[in-house]
Amino acid sequence: MHFVYTVWMMVVGLWVANDASAKPDSWSEGQKAVGTSSMLTATEPFAVDIPTDVASLVTKPTAVYYFSPTCPHCQAVIGEIIELSVSFPDVQWVGVASAHSSPDMIEAFRQAYAVEFPIIHDAEGLFSQSVGARATPNVYVFSPVEMDSSDQVDTESQPTQEGFATVSLTDMYLPYARGYAGLFKLRNGDAANPFAHFQGYQGNRVCMSCHVEEGKSYLMTHHAQAYYTLYKVDKVDDPKCVSCHVVGMGEETGFQLGDHTSPLVGVGCESCHSASGGHDGEAVDAKESCVGCHDAEHSIHFSVEKGLPHIDHYMASGLTDEEIKARVEAIAEGTAEKPLLSFPKGETVGSERCLSCHENIHPKDPHRDSLHSLKRKERKDPACLECHSTPKEISTMVSKADHTVEHYWNKEGVGCESCHGAGGEHVANPSKENIVGLGDSCPVCVLESMCTSCHTPKWDPTWNLDERIKIYSQD
Ligand code: HEC
Ligand code: HEC
Ligand code: HEC
Ligand code: HEC
Ligand code: HEC
Ligand code: HEC
Ligand code: HEC
Ligand code: HEC
Repeated sequence: MHFVYTVWMMVVGLWVANDASAKPDSWSEGQKAVGTSSMLTATEPFAVDIPTDVASLVTKPTAVYYFSPTCPHCQAVIGEIIELSVSFPDVQWVGVASAHSSPDMIEAFRQAYAVEFPIIHDAEGLFSQSVGARATPNVYVFSPVEMDSSDQVDTESQPTQEGFATVSLTDMYLPYARGYAGLFKLRNGDAANPFAHFQGYQGNRVCMSCHVEEGKSYLMTHHAQAYYTLYKVDKVDDPKCVSCHVVGMGEETGFQLGDHTSPLVGVGCESCHSASGGHDGEAVDAKESCVGCHDAEHSIHFSVEKGLPHIDHYMASGLTDEEIKARVEAIAEGTAEKPLLSFPKGETVGSERCLSCHENIHPKDPHRDSLHSLKRKERKDPACLECHSTPKEISTMVSKADHTVEHYWNKEGVGCESCHGAGGEHVANPSKENIVGLGDSCPVCVLESMCTSCHTPKWDPTWNLDERIKIYSQD
């Protein structure tokens, strides 16, 4: 699945981005971002010989955008690169088009994206050989060699080849992906004042480049795939849906509707930690962010205490790459557990009691007879009862694995409390506070998941929420 691949590459990308950085000795598993400055040194600068047509343009720190005009990823990032070239004058830009390109293609690319910086055609592939480029789009940052500096580059031992000149390679992105702009500014800006350029939303990639542990764990949460969820129900372009499934929609530097490759898709770091994660001096309490999205309509009986353990920033600690990948895939496939769907704990009382007050409710409810569909023997089989009956006590809706026949009411099909939660307290003292009323629930966000915990593809291959829900909407 393409999406899993993308998320997985972000996991790997964390390490790619960090391989290029000199990690301090003090870095250890499970620690917060220590040694900010070390993250700002992308690589120990080292000397490379590159073709003179490129080297002659390296008159100050210069970023080389190595690309192919027809490669979709190169097209996807050029907007961000142009923006960077304008907004961050500390570094100048040069394009180098790969050997595969033709002059016509390069010209078309320049015009289509209004590229103002010079583009050189690496017709012989000499540039790509000199830096060992294997793919596009890459970005390399060079500086002129400083012969007099103390960390002087040794150019004497190997005389420079004809047609080549020595420059110092100070930073690189292999490949460059959308969302690296903030990191680029951090690494190539004022080292004494690293967050000077943090204004507005940065995107997860930037945060994860320093907060590595938090990043890995984050990718194991449902939040990381919240935009993909909208793809699955074909709602990525619906403004009513997108706002809670992305970062900062409606704000100037936030997510823009329809920008499907944006680094701000999904519920990201800055959805909870605010733009720039407080590094712009405006920190917020992340625990207060939840209810902005997990409101009564979009989460059953949500509380911060219930949610926090499932977004633990260190849950990836000690896990192998394989284990992390399996979790990422399970979320994408929809097989990962959804702990928020669980009702509050409590004992059930059975539908008879409920009907004594709510006699006319859901008159066509097909669930009441669901025990009758089972044969005598099957009525003693917890593997059938878990979907055809109501548990005597509700702890969670999802993990039913340990149940025996004793856990279920033997006269009750799928009763009221399978959908509204345990009603012991409510029966004694009826109020809206002690029962899960579903009337306000967003059908796609909450009801679909609840219904499909039983209406699985195996038992209900033609499941369709809009069709099935009708019975409940009637009065
Ligand atoms: C250049 C490295 C770097 C980047 C990039 C970065 N951070 Fe940080 N962040 C740090 C450091 C260092 C600290 C201080 C850690 C500490 O106190 O132990 C910190 C602290 C924090 C804290 C506060 C932790 C606390 O204990 O109060 C939060 C929240 C945070 N960062 C979120 C973010 C978010 C969100 C982003 C992306 C927009 C981000 N950071 C980007 C280095 C970075
Ligand atoms: C920007 C909106 C937003 C914010 C803020 C937010 N969430 Fe979520 N959350 C979502 C969305 C959307 C999903 C569903 C993701 C999916 O599966 O596609 C979700 C899913 C979850 C899930 C997993 C779903 C499940 O059924 O178990 C947990 C747990 C969770 N959120 C906890 C929290 C907590 C705790 C906070 C605050 C610290 C929080 N969320 C803040 C939007 C948000
Ligand atoms: C107010 C914020 C908000 C809005 C608006 C919103 N959602 Fe959600 N959505 C959430 C939250 C929070 C969850 C997680 C619910 C939970 O597990 O408790 C969620 C979960 C989902 C899920 C289930 C994910 C899963 O894996 O179980 C789907 C599907 C979904 N939303 C689609 C939509 C669609 C379609 C719309 C537009 C009609 C929409 N959302 C509008 C906040 C929102
Ligand atoms: C769903 C909301 C949510 C998301 C998404 C989220 N965080 Fe957090 N984060 C929190 C909460 C809640 C805390 C705990 C705050 C507290 O205890 O006061 C926290 C704590 C932190 C801290 C400080 C303590 C620690 O354990 O490290 C850092 C740093 C941090 N988050 C960075 C990040 C980064 C980086 C990302 C994205 C990769 C991210 N967070 C995504 C909610 C979130
Ligand atoms: C003694 C009478 C009585 C019994 C028994 C009873 N209810 Fe209620 N129920 C009420 C009343 C009254 C309300 C309206 C409360 C309000 O509006 O404040 C209500 C409201 C509800 C609501 C709507 C909550 C909302 O948010 O709108 C649901 C759902 C519900 N009951 C389900 C049940 C279930 C399930 C049972 C059985 C476990 C049950 N009721 C048993 C009297 C009862
Ligand atoms: C606890 C498991 C469970 C849950 C939760 C559940 N169902 Fe069912 N549902 C069943 C079973 C079992 C049957 C088969 C009943 C029978 O034996 O005749 C069924 C049958 C149905 C039927 C009639 C048969 C059909 O396919 O048309 C409809 C409609 C239906 N359910 C809708 C829903 C909706 C809507 C939801 C969510 C609001 C939901 N169900 C939640 C278990 C469940
Ligand atoms: C994961 C939930 C689940 C489990 C477990 C489950 N069922 Fe069902 N079953 C359903 C649902 C949902 C339906 C309704 C399908 C529909 O009508 O679309 C159903 C329908 C049926 C029907 C057809 C009812 C009718 O009138 O059409 C029979 C018979 C049945 N189940 C028997 C069993 C037996 C026997 C077992 C145990 C071996 C079992 N089920 C386990 C969810 C489940
Ligand atoms: C299969 C799941 C399911 C079962 C079983 C079920 N309900 Fe409901 N109930 C719903 C849904 C979904 C709604 C919201 C319908 C709507 O307004 O769109 C609802 C709404 C309600 C309401 C109105 C809430 C409001 O805000 O107006 C009451 C009261 C209620 N149910 C009581 C019961 C009782 C009593 C039973 C058992 C006899 C029962 N329900 C069985 C799914 C279920």
